[in-house]
This record gives sequence, structure tokens and C-alpha cells, in this order.
Amino acid sequence: MNRKTVFVCLLAVGLQAMAQTPVYLDESKPVEQRIEDALKRMTLPEKIAVIHAQSKFSSAGVKRLGFPDFWTDDGPHGVRPDVLWDEWEQAGQTNDSCVAFPALTCLAATWNPEMSALYGHALGEEALYRGKDMILGPGVNIYRTPLGGRNFEYMGEDPYLASRMVVPYIQQMQKLGVASCVKHYCLNNDEEYRHQVNVIVSDRALHEIYLPAFHAAITEAGAWAIMGAYNLYKNEHNCHNSITLNKILKKDWKFDGVVVSDWGGAHETDQAVKNGLDMEFGSWTNGLTEGASNAYESYHLAKPYERAIQEGRYTTAELDDKVRRVLRLFYRTTMNRQRPYGFLCSESHYETARRVAGEGIVLLQNQGGLLPIRSDAKRILVVGENAIKMMTVGGGSSSLKAQHEISPLDGLRQRLGNQVQVDYARGYVGDATGSYNGVTTGQNLNDNRSADQLIAEAVEKAAGADYVILFGGLNKSDYQDCEGHDRKNMDLPYEQDRLVEALAAATKRLVYVNISGNAVTMPWKSKVPAIVQGWFIGSEAGHALAAVLTGDVNPSGKLPFTWPASLQDVGAHALDTYPGTWRADKKVIDEEYKEGIYVGYRWVDKQKTRPTFAFGHGLSYTTFKIANLRADRTQMTSDGQITFTVNVTNTGSCDGAEVVQLYVSDLKSSVDRPLKELKAFQKVHLRAGESKDVALTIDKRALSFWDETTSDWKAEPGQFQALVGNASDNLPCKIKFTLQ
Ligand code: GLC
Repeated sequence: MNRKTVFVCLLAVGLQAMAQTPVYLDESKPVEQRIEDALKRMTLPEKIAVIHAQSKFSSAGVKRLGFPDFWTDDGPHGVRPDVLWDEWEQAGQTNDSCVAFPALTCLAATWNPEMSALYGHALGEEALYRGKDMILGPGVNIYRTPLGGRNFEYMGEDPYLASRMVVPYIQQMQKLGVASCVKHYCLNNDEEYRHQVNVIVSDRALHEIYLPAFHAAITEAGAWAIMGAYNLYKNEHNCHNSITLNKILKKDWKFDGVVVSDWGGAHETDQAVKNGLDMEFGSWTNGLTEGASNAYESYHLAKPYERAIQEGRYTTAELDDKVRRVLRLFYRTTMNRQRPYGFLCSESHYETARRVAGEGIVLLQNQGGLLPIRSDAKRILVVGENAIKMMTVGGGSSSLKAQHEISPLDGLRQRLGNQVQVDYARGYVGDATGSYNGVTTGQNLNDNRSADQLIAEAVEKAAGADYVILFGGLNKSDYQDCEGHDRKNMDLPYEQDRLVEALAAATKRLVYVNISGNAVTMPWKSKVPAIVQGWFIGSEAGHALAAVLTGDVNPSGKLPFTWPASLQDVGAHALDTYPGTWRADKKVIDEEYKEGIYVGYRWVDKQKTRPTFAFGHGLSYTTFKIANLRADRTQMTSDGQITFTVNVTNTGSCDGAEVVQLYVSDLKSSVDRPLKELKAFQKVHLRAGESKDVALTIDKRALSFWDETTSDWKAEPGQFQALVGNASDNLPCKIKFTLQ
């Protein structure tokens, strides 16, 4: 063949090759094939670059190959304002104000997975618009102590409720091409010494209580990322842990996504390489304020790791596994050309915020039907700092720069207009500040009056009011509902108890609305006719609270955690396990979860304590009757299911929604088991007088406990009982059945 012919052939091959899209960029090829092709093309420095942060909230792509940088941001309730490249302070953008959605404890309190789906979709759209490829949320750590500083960011005390409520949020967000990074995996149940706590817990409690919500997030929702927690488990930090990450998450659960460190959660290079960490963020910071500046090349998975490979201390086996996972994350997000554009602060997002809040607010007590506010009311006194204080700023990394936040006072004034005179009295002074990470509320809540003066003013103004509505509770300041510390006790702060007692003595028409993410003691409970749990509900707080208080929205929320009368009624405190015991080196504090599986109502049933309000409790302005429980069979085969049906009737005078709850009791077992455990629920909307059948199906897993001898789930044949009702302390319908 002459030279000319050879040249023409080579040219043809070359042109043909150029015309062909390389596999890693060819959207017609399977992702796994594209990952392998990209991996082959990447240099060692490029592989190292994608597994650690390059700024506070971003990590590198592979620009040479066309992979964009990867951006993430907090948090579970809304997209955090942009911070400077290497600072915690906000960048002062003018285009990053967001919708602040209700805190996840409120979402859980809706007991309505449809609300979770709306939430994940709306938050995903806000993230897309803001250019965020991954949201650092949701959080599903179990509510183990009412002192927990971040309980407001999580979904309560029950693993089944949290498992059902976390899945749609993740599914809908990821449908938009935004990764969910479910957190904080795992056993990060208090804040006080979160970087030093080594949790000691039984395998049963780990698998039956603390892991199920993460398991559902990974195996049902298919979360693309998960965040390791700061604390230790079996003496290894959870951001690089051979048991929780390598064994449970990646081997047993077959997780194919990325393990992200919490900011500053990686502590040691060899462990970071070998124990399951895939993306290192925020090293040498406490995750809130300080941080070594521009240390990114010194991160454990940066130069130190690259040098160790070059020196032959590691092959690229672990590195390639990390990079495959990161490339998979890229193909799911930044390389997904079909991703929509997203929206910021759209009306549909505000509607979602209002709906979730309206369905999550819990009517705890309503003696004499004091609520809803009657239409002939002429004067209302609103009392309390929490009626005016912005709650979307503060609380730690979930702090937001909301486009607006309607306060409870403003919400009531807007709703009641000029037909009702709405007066205000401060009542108490709590946290007059209002700024976090450079975001300021702009409110000046300073007030130098004494508690006596403030109480006297409120009592005086209460005279003659048709309603006195006190908005009290906690706030997002340090040692309240805030990341980094826990509360010091369970009581209301700022002498609010005195204020409540004084108002209760002055009027019989007192409503107390508790704004918090946690339970508080209520020694005055019997003296206050109406009590409402208002949560932290974000931008639309005032509108949602006014809607519920006036009856525009009939409350249907149920408590996602037990409301104990005191800390002594909580296993973690009754057994004196919290906050743990410091080791001699003062570097690690061992916290043994001695209560085991007996968390929340499980502890209540075991100890027969009497909580202020029970798990699953929540009233309505109407009444419901749950009756006629029947099962489609009395025997369940081991691979079968059993369906229970009850009839629910709205026996009251207004439309409303009820949450039918099904608990299972193992009447005879070889191991100690809780008296009952939530295993199914369904919210049903009924018009006044309407009646519907509700069917709830369970399978063998619902009857199982974690068998520590086989390290697997086990359901023992024998008798069980299903208990059905509308709260853990109100289960009038019972039926026995047998597992063959
Ligand atoms: C914080 C939090 C974590 C957050 C991260 C980034 O310390 O623990 O929830 O996503 O750091 O702000």
C-alpha cells in the first residue's frame, strides 16, 4: 500500500474517531461504562482533586474532561445563603434569599408522606436555581433526649415514622438531579460533645432504633450521598468507620453513592483512605465557625494521600473506588443534561411551606373548645417574644436568609384584619440578638424592662381580652434549639413559667403556643385551656399559625416524639447516661445508651411513666371515631402479609384529618421487646360526617427484632396483637393474630 493510501486511511480513522463521542461523554452509553472510561482517562492528581473540598462548599470536577466543579450547601430546611470561598461569613449576595421551609420535626408531625414529597421537590427546585448539586440534608437522627440541640432538624423518636417520612423527600429532590446527603450517619443524638462522643450501644438498639431511617434513605429512597457524623462508634470516627461505612453501609446495604464527611469530621489519613470516606469537607473546622484557611491541599485525602500513593504505601484500589463513586454522583447531577432550571421563592414553594406547616402544627390541648378563635372576637392580646422574633436565622448550619418570614403577630393581624383589635405585650425577654454567619434579622428586640414589669404589663393588657395568646418556647440561640450545644435542662427559659402562671390567673381564655423543636416542661398545663405546638415553621409561620388558630385550617398534626413530664422520665437521663463519662485523656467521652431499644414511648410503656403528651398525640377541631377493626386473615405466613382495616368516621361538625396508627405487640418472645411498636399509619381526610375504611398492611419484618446471635432480623412464630387508634396512648381497637 503506498504512503498516500496509508495517509488517507489514517486520516479516515482519525476523523471517524473524532466524530465519535468518547464513551465517558456519550449519553447513549450506560453510566457504569462511562465511569470506567472516565476513570481510565484521569490522572492521579485529577483523581485526588475530586475527593476533597476546594472551598467551604465545593469540590473540583475534571475540567480537562468536561466535568464541572461540584457545589453543595446546607441545609435540610432551605438553601443556605452563599458564603465566601473560604469563610463561614456570608458572601452578601443579593440573589440568594430563599424560602425557609418548616423544620423537619414539623414535617414529621404531619405524619403525611405526601407532604414530604412536596417538600423535597420544592427544596430541590430552590437548590437547582441556586446552582447547588447536593443538599446537606435531610437529617434523621433519633430524638433520644429532649435536650438535643438539633432535634428540630430531625424527624422524631420513632424509627418507623422517620423511615416513612424521609423517603419521599429524597426521592423527589433527586428526581430533579439534586443529590440528597442524608445525615448524620450515625448515632449523633446530642450536640454537647459531638466531636468527642464515643457511643456505646447494643446491636439491637443500633439496628432497631438508630439505623432504620438511614436504611430506608439508602435502600428505598436511593440517596446518592450520606454524611458521616462527628461522633465515634466503637472508637472510630463515623466519617471513616470500618463498621458503619465499610460493613453496614457499603457491604450490607450495597450503597453505591458517596460518603461525605461532616465539616471537620475527618481526623486521620490512613482511616480516611481505608474506612469508607469518599469526599472530605471542612477539615480542621468545628463545622460552625473556625477553620484553618486554605488548607484544602493539606486535607487527608489531598496531597498526603497523593504522596502516599506515589511512595507506594497504597495502590490506587481505594482511590479508584472513591473516584468511581464521585463520578457516579457527577453523572447523577452535574453531568445530567436533562436537569431542569429550578425556581427560587416561587408561589408553589410558599404554598408547600404553608401546607406542611398547617399539617404539622399540633393541637395538644383544647379544654372547653376554646380554640378556634370565634368570629365574634373583638380584642385579642398577643404576648411573648416568640410572637415577633425571626426564627429562620440562627440554630447553626441550618440558618437561612429567608426572602420573608411572617411572624405569628403579623400573621394574626393580617388574618384578623380590622374586625379584631390585636394588641401586643412582650411578656418576656429572651434572645434579643438576631444574626448568624453574617445574616441579620434586622430586628431590634432590646428591652430593658424587668421580668416583673413585663409580666405586669401583660397581665394588665389581658384584662377584658377575648383571647390571650402567648407565643413562648425556645429559640435558635446557643444552648436552646441550636447546633453545637444541648439545652442544660428541659424547662422553659427566660422565666416564662412565671408569665404563664400570671396570665392563667388573669384570664380563663389563655392559649399557649410553644415555638420549639423540643419538648419543654409544662408545670402549669392544667391551668392553660389551650396548648399548641407551633414548631419552627419558617417563612410562612405567621400565616400557618393564624390559619390554625382561626380554624381556617383544622389542625391534624401528631407529636413525632414523647413529651415527657421531666427528664427523669427519659431513659437517657433516668439511667444517667447523658452526656457520658470522660476518659482520662479527656479526648473522648463514652456515652453508653443503657436504655437500649427503650427510647421514647417504648420507655414510657416499659416504665409506665405518664408523659405530658404521648407520642402520636394531636387533637382536631372535629372528632373522629375509629372502629370495626378487622384483619384479612388471622394467620400470617412467614413470607406473607396481613391487612388490617378500620372504619374512621368524622363525627364532628367540620372537615378534618385523622392519623390512624397501627402498633404491633409481640405477646410472647424469647427476648425482651417493647410493649408495642409503630408499624403502620395513614392520614385520612374526612368531611364532617364522612366515613371511610382505612387499610394498613404489614409483613414479617414488622414483627421482627434484630437477633444479635445471627446479626439478622428474626420474627418468632407465635401470637401477636395489632393495636389501632389515633395516638400511642389511645389505641381502642385490638386484634390478635398468629405468625406461623
Ligand atoms: C455542620 C453540620 C452539618 C452541616 C455541615 C456544613 O457542622 O454538622 O450538618 O451540613 O457542618 O455546614
